[in-house]
Amino acid sequence: MLLDRLYPRPGQVEVADVASGLDLGSRAPEGRPYVVLNMVASLDGKAAINGSTRGMGGEADRELFHNLRTQADALLVGAGTVRDERYGKAIKTDALRAKREQEGLAPEPVTVIVSFRGALPPDLPILQEPGAPVIVATGAAGELEGVAADVSYERTGDDLPLLLARLREDRGIRSILCEGGPTLNSHLLAAGLVDELFLSIDPVIVGGADALTLVAGRALAEPVRAELVSLLRSDEGLFGRWRLRG
Ligand SMILES: NC(=O)c1ccc[n+]([C@@H]2O[C@H](COP(=O)([O-])OP(=O)(O)OC[C@H]3O[C@@H](n4cnc5c(N)ncnc54)[C@H](OP(=O)(O)O)[C@@H]3O)[C@@H](O)[C@H]2O)c1
Repeated sequence: MLLDRLYPRPGQVEVADVASGLDLGSRAPEGRPYVVLNMVASLDGKAAINGSTRGMGGEADRELFHNLRTQADALLVGAGTVRDERYGKAIKTDALRAKREQEGLAPEPVTVIVSFRGALPPDLPILQEPGAPVIVATGAAGELEGVAADVSYERTGDDLPLLLARLREDRGIRSILCEGGPTLNSHLLAAGLVDELFLSIDPVIVGGADALTLVAGRALAEPVRAELVSLLRSDEGLFGRWRLRG
């Protein structure tokens, strides 16, 4: 699918090419992986419609979402999102698996699920995927019963800097694609652990003071500023890539 590139150089670009050859691992700072956040928002900054992203984002957003998964060693996601969205197999097609290998990555990313309480329903599709590489980052002591995925544990509690350090040092993970949700985002941003943001703007207004925005929780002690790397458009919305400062 072709998108119009508005910045930096006006022209046209295939969605798949937007998320190709990013070589995110080479940008990893000392002691932790490079962290890229990918989110979709409504025009009024909401992150979900009726508690789910299902009604948000069009075909281009979905294609970008799946192609971005070909660019990182690991996916990082909060337990709330995994539970609400019923996360399944990370890579959906052989073509996307082959793309990962061409990029020098393992055919499947490791899915790192952050769950302080370790409260994950064993029937989640990702946990029932035979041999799927999953790490549960948790403050709980137990292990999940009755799962088919290849699950291991990082007992890092709520300490995200420690988790990222362990992922880099012990597991060799140099690049992470974080897929939210807003609560996890707030903790990552507060700890200065987000390097980039891919943000799709879906031209819809959701409303509602209680609806989640991209970043939940308390206001950040310091606003995080970003600079635009690229901006694309289609009839389905705007697709920005931002580098966070600081
Ligand atoms: N627009 C988008 O692109 C987008 C992306 C993702 C999600 N969403 C939407 O966002 C909603 C879910 O987001 P959410 O904010 O409720 O949940 P979330 O951020 O996905 O997950 C929150 C949970 O993650 C765990 N957690 C978060 N920070 C932690 C830390 N520092 N240490 C240990 N555990 C931590 C806790 O799990 P436990 O409770 O298990 O302890 C917490 O309850 C859904 O409606 C989903 O559709 C939207």
